[in-house]
Amino acid sequence: MIRIALIGYGQRGKFYLDTFGKYDDVKIVAVCDSNKEKLSLAAEKYKLSADRLFSSDEEFFAKGKIAEALIIASMDEYHYAQAIKGLKTGYHLILEKPIAQSEEQSREIARLAHEYDRQVFVCHVLRYAPLYTTIKKMINEGKVGEVISISATEHVGWWHQAHSFVRGNWRRSEDTNPMIVAKCCHDLDLFVWLTGKDCKSVSSYGSLNYFKRENAPEGCGDYCFECKLKDKCKYNSMKFYMNYPAFAFASGQYLGDPKDKRAIEQAFSTKDNPYARCVFKCDNDVVDNQVVNVLFEDNTTAQLTMTAFCEGGIRTIWIHGTEGEMSASMLDNVIHYQKFGKIYGVEPEDIEVTVGETFGGHGGGDEKMVDDIVHALRGDSGAMGLTSIDKSIMSHLMGFAAEKSRLEGGTAIKIEK
Ligand SMILES: NC(=O)c1ccc[n+]([C@@H]2O[C@H](COP(=O)([O-])OP(=O)(O)OC[C@H]3O[C@@H](n4cnc5c(N)ncnc54)[C@H](O)[C@@H]3O)[C@@H](O)[C@H]2O)c1
Repeated sequence: MIRIALIGYGQRGKFYLDTFGKYDDVKIVAVCDSNKEKLSLAAEKYKLSADRLFSSDEEFFAKGKIAEALIIASMDEYHYAQAIKGLKTGYHLILEKPIAQSEEQSREIARLAHEYDRQVFVCHVLRYAPLYTTIKKMINEGKVGEVISISATEHVGWWHQAHSFVRGNWRRSEDTNPMIVAKCCHDLDLFVWLTGKDCKSVSSYGSLNYFKRENAPEGCGDYCFECKLKDKCKYNSMKFYMNYPAFAFASGQYLGDPKDKRAIEQAFSTKDNPYARCVFKCDNDVVDNQVVNVLFEDNTTAQLTMTAFCEGGIRTIWIHGTEGEMSASMLDNVIHYQKFGKIYGVEPEDIEVTVGETFGGHGGGDEKMVDDIVHALRGDSGAMGLTSIDKSIMSHLMGFAAEKSRLEGGTAIKIEK
């Protein structure tokens, strides 16, 4: 039996327990969350006795080793300390991204994973998403020849930006992480994985351009519920959370019945609720647009655009090789592949690969990653282990360097492996 404990029963934590819990040889044995209401929801759902519920990580670690693996799905600022304690206690870790809040902390976790001989699975779920695994397979088969450059866009979306990065948990760089690490470590990780190369250097520009006081429409209030412009504003928080109760739940400000619109409205009509604030009058400082240029060890290049200004919720990528190109979007899960040479009469190859209908859970990556982790924890030789800390750390070094570059006005920052 593989026993699993969890710190952080939020959005991600809930998904992990529901998914790991489906395996006959996996048992959820303990949950730790600083929010008492969430803890009692977990207790009820997973039938956990009081001595298996912890409202602080101190209490949890004081118990010693009570499982084989520990999922760390708390907020970014706790990952480092919890990961270090987890490794020292003897747990394998399933560590949510971002790994930590700095290059030094990330390297320390990687070092201790080796010292204590523990597996650390970083939740870079896109390495398991069928769209990207198909692209990776096509690259490995030589479909595009040598990859020379990649360009990608992370379409965050205006509403997602408002929820997470203006009003929400990831709005302040110092408290959690710079946006290019918090949101885009996935995208930078895809560059590393798809090229199979280490990064030499990055440079970056970006800013908080829009979600700030000087862009507040004339006469708007500090809180949506009291704003006289609320009926015409697409950022009206009451309307958003009433229409999308899953986000009301994700905000942690409403954990009741998702169908009870009146109760949701009430929860978002109070000044204690940070998600009731006007998007132009918050204390956010993370960027709403950023570009990153990447130079790999053999002069392969990649470029990432991250933007709030789109409908959002998708990623797009274009891969340019010596023999062909591929483009793909998570919107339709289709890869367009073109082999070069048509105009010279070389046998044309121009195909569309439809990957499948798995759009939820990071394009299907969430569930496939959990499945692979279960195989790895069982010790199966077939486990792929795509997201070990050693494989995952490069994206974080790139993200922290990109932020440094942005703050320095775009200087190139060298990456030491
Ligand atoms: N892999 C991915 O694609 C992906 C997607 C979204 C979020 N994340 C990451 O997952 C983590 C959790 O995100 P979320 O959206 O589930 O957030 P969330 O706010 O829904 O959940 C976090 C939970 O942790 C609890 N918590 C916070 N600090 C704690 C502490 N010190 N001890 C115990 N419990 C604590 C909170 O009460 C909350 O229930 C974040 O680091 C985030 O960046 C990863």
